[in-house]
Parts: sequence; C-alpha cells; structure tokens
Amino acid sequence: MTDQPLLLGLDISTTGAKALLIDPAGRVVSSASTPLTLSTPRPLWSEQNPEDWWRGMVSSIRQALAGAGADGRRVAAIGLTGQMHGLVMLDSGGRVLRPAILWNDQRTGPQCDEIRRRLGRQRLIQITGNDALTGFTAPKILWVQQNEPEVYARCRHILLPKDYIRYRLAGEPAMDCADGSGTILFDLKTRTWSPEVLSALGIPAEWLPPTYEGPQITSRVSAEAAAETGLLAGTPIVGGGGDQSAQAVGVGAVEPGIVAVTLGTSGVVFAATEAPLVEPEGRLHAFCHAVPGRWHFMGVMLSAAGSLQWHRDTLAPGTDFDTLVSEAEGVPAGSEGLFFLPYLTGERTPYPDPLARGAWIGLTVRHTRAHMTRAVLEGVAFGFKDMFALIQGAGLGEIRQVRISGGGARSRLWRQIMADVLNAELVTVNTTEGAAFGAALLAGVGAGLYPDVDTACRATIQITGRAAPGADAAVYPPYYERYRALYPALAGEFKAIAAVVGA
Ligand code: XUL
Repeated sequence: MTDQPLLLGLDISTTGAKALLIDPAGRVVSSASTPLTLSTPRPLWSEQNPEDWWRGMVSSIRQALAGAGADGRRVAAIGLTGQMHGLVMLDSGGRVLRPAILWNDQRTGPQCDEIRRRLGRQRLIQITGNDALTGFTAPKILWVQQNEPEVYARCRHILLPKDYIRYRLAGEPAMDCADGSGTILFDLKTRTWSPEVLSALGIPAEWLPPTYEGPQITSRVSAEAAAETGLLAGTPIVGGGGDQSAQAVGVGAVEPGIVAVTLGTSGVVFAATEAPLVEPEGRLHAFCHAVPGRWHFMGVMLSAAGSLQWHRDTLAPGTDFDTLVSEAEGVPAGSEGLFFLPYLTGERTPYPDPLARGAWIGLTVRHTRAHMTRAVLEGVAFGFKDMFALIQGAGLGEIRQVRISGGGARSRLWRQIMADVLNAELVTVNTTEGAAFGAALLAGVGAGLYPDVDTACRATIQITGRAAPGADAAVYPPYYERYRALYPALAGEFKAIAAVVGA
C-alpha cells in the first residue's frame, strides 16, 4: 500500500499555486495551495510575476509531499494545468522579460481589431476556431510588439503560465495542444501552430515551443528542480492542459453528450466534440481538448462566482458566503424585478466586450440586501443560460448529462437556481479538486496506469447528486427575456462611460 504510485497534478491558477497528489483510484492523498495575488497597475490591466508562480509551486509541492508522508520516488508522473491564455515572455537565457499578461487583462482591444484586419475575421475563425478576443494570447503579443519594442526585441520564447512551471521543472520549453489552441496562433485541425497566422502577425515560429497531446510525456524533472522541490530527477511530466480542459477531464466531460458547467471565479460551459467544429460567428470558443483527437466548444463568462465574491467583499465584508446566500432563500424567484448584470470585468460570452459593466437594474426601496444577493445568483445563472443556449444550438447532438462543479456549485440554492434557469437536470460528481485532478489523471495515462483518458475518468469519477428543475423553472422565462434585453440596451452607454472615464 505504502509504495503505491501517486500522481501529481499542479495547477497554477490566478488565485493560487496548487499541488494535488492522488492514488490510481482517484483518492486524494494530499493537497496544498499557496495563495497568489494579482496586480492591476493600470485600468484594464491584469498581471502576475512568473517567479511568484514558481516560488508558490515549490512550496505547494513540498507541502503536498510532506502531507502524503511521501518522497519524490512515489510520484509516477506529473500533470500540469493552469490559467489559460497568459503571456509569458523569456529572453535567450530563459529569463522572464516582463510580468505575465493574464487571461482577464482587457488592454488589447485595438490589437484584436488589428488581428481581424490582418487575417480577415472569417479566415481567423476558420483556422483557429476563434475570433480575436482580448483575453487570448495573440493580441497580447502584438501589444508588447507595439508598446514595449525593447522587450519584444529581446524575446526568444513564448510560454503559457503552466508551461513556465514546466520550463522551471524540466529546463525545456514545451506546451500541450489544449492550452496552445487558446493562444489563437493554432490551426485547430492540425493541432499545432498555424504558419499562416504566425506570418500574418509577424511572430517568429522559433519562439513557440513544441506541442504535445495532454497525456503525452513532454519532459522530465531536472536535477536542479528536483533539489528545489523534493521531486525525483527524471520524473516524467505530461502535456496536461489549460484549466478548462483539465477541469473537464477532472469531472469526466471527455466525450460528446456530457456538458460541464463550471461555477468558478469565471463561469464556463464546456462540450467535447469528436471533430474540430467551429461556431461560424466565433461566438463560442473552439479549442483542442486535453484528450487526444478530441476538441471542444466553450463559453466563458468572466465574473461568475467572482460576482458573488465581489458582492460579499464590497457590501457584506466579514459575512460568510453561507449566511449571505441563506438570506436570499426567502426572496422569490425573479428577485421582485431586480436584475444583476455580471459584467464586472467586461464580458466574453456571449458579448465579447471588454467595456461591458456590471449593474443592478430595477432597484426600489422594497429591495433589501437579500434581494441584491439573489439577483446576483440569478444574474449569473442568466449569463450561463446565454452560453448554454449557444451550446444547445451548435449542432452537437443530444446533451445526455450536465455536470456542475466549481466553488459556487457547493451552494444548494445556487445549484437549484441554475437548474431552474437552465431548465436542465444538473448532476454533481465526487471529484471536487477541479483542474488539478484532471491534470493528475492525464499524468496517470502518461505513466501507463490507465490505457486512455476515458478509462481514467471511468475509474475515478462517480455521480454524487442531482438538482432537477423545480416549480421556479416556469417562473424564470419572462425574467430571462428581460435580462437578455438589458445588455443590447446598455452596450452603447458602457462604451460612452468608458470614454468619459478615459478607459
Ligand atoms: C478560459 C479562461 C479562464 C482562465 C481562468 O478561456 O480564460 O477560464 O483560464 O483561469
């Protein structure tokens, strides 16, 4: 028992560096997380220092090993995951050139326009599966090219956040297909860099690392990293995946028909596909899955549980989430006409608009904090409905099951509101460690403990609960119609407000 192999999932998220050790049955043996902070040096900017990621990850790996009472020899393989789309630039000596520009940074509106101009929007969507959005990596590279030419001139390597951790662990650059496709420098069909996109944007191909499938071994832990982390030199590291594809693996959304809904800081609706399908208008993201030979559609709302976090921190500091949410139980569905728009950090799906803003609309003196809380839970659920409707309309065939996960899904009330608004049964699964768990499963496939990702998921993931639509499902449709009318009515004003404040 004690020498049973362990799988290590490493997740470099926006809020923490997490190390998770599981056994081959999927039992969590030990987990450790080191918090990370975000810097917003200017409006719309969002940055982190890659060196902080590495320091945090070293500490989490050491704590996780100690918590398991294990030394590095027990670790059969390592899987990496993390926040997607962040731009890490290294010089010829592998030194970080500037702070990483993150997925939620909104500075690159003009560069997105330029990418559409250079390639043609339709051609861009045809090749990469996606429109140019501020969150993605390619416009960030152009931003540095145009605004920090001295940094750009010294750049020799471009990596994503988790691949910087790989680089520090192994000393060699490499990337997986799932995260790579989120740069929008990828050809979705060939699952690697697109020469056409790179040449249109003037980005040297040699700056980009070799690409691998999620369970494929990319490299091994170096002697130097072994000394720092307590891992064994030579331990294999697999491709892994961006947090969304790894999260999907971690809840078993690996085959068509199973949709994953993640109610985390950001909100995600994720559907696996057998072919590189593209939504012709680019309203859904289309990326490679971390499962070899599969792809996925995805919608992302930027502030899902993040909206509740902001609401609590701003209007009810010190109140715990359970207390705040329980106040909202007594408010009827529809919050007596109060609506919340969750666009606190701009939006992506279905409105790719960095200037969209949050709002409560319909406030009267009758409304209390409990109404405001319920309106937040409902507004986020309405935002999910926008994405769910796009997935339902994308021609994917029957949706057999919707699996809900993420911090917000721990709330019974929020799960029920989601089931009522989406008018779909939502199931929960036993695995609650998110993307790190999926990354560990990918490592297990790479280490040969499971023959493939489907088998790894079947061996470890079970359904634990269900939320079926209730009586309120019939109440929500007219409220959702009003919600849907609000963004189009306000979009022009959001733009005008941004101009007034000089954003
Ligand atoms: C996905 C995305 C976010 C980040 C958050 O496209 O941008 O989910 O990966 O970590």
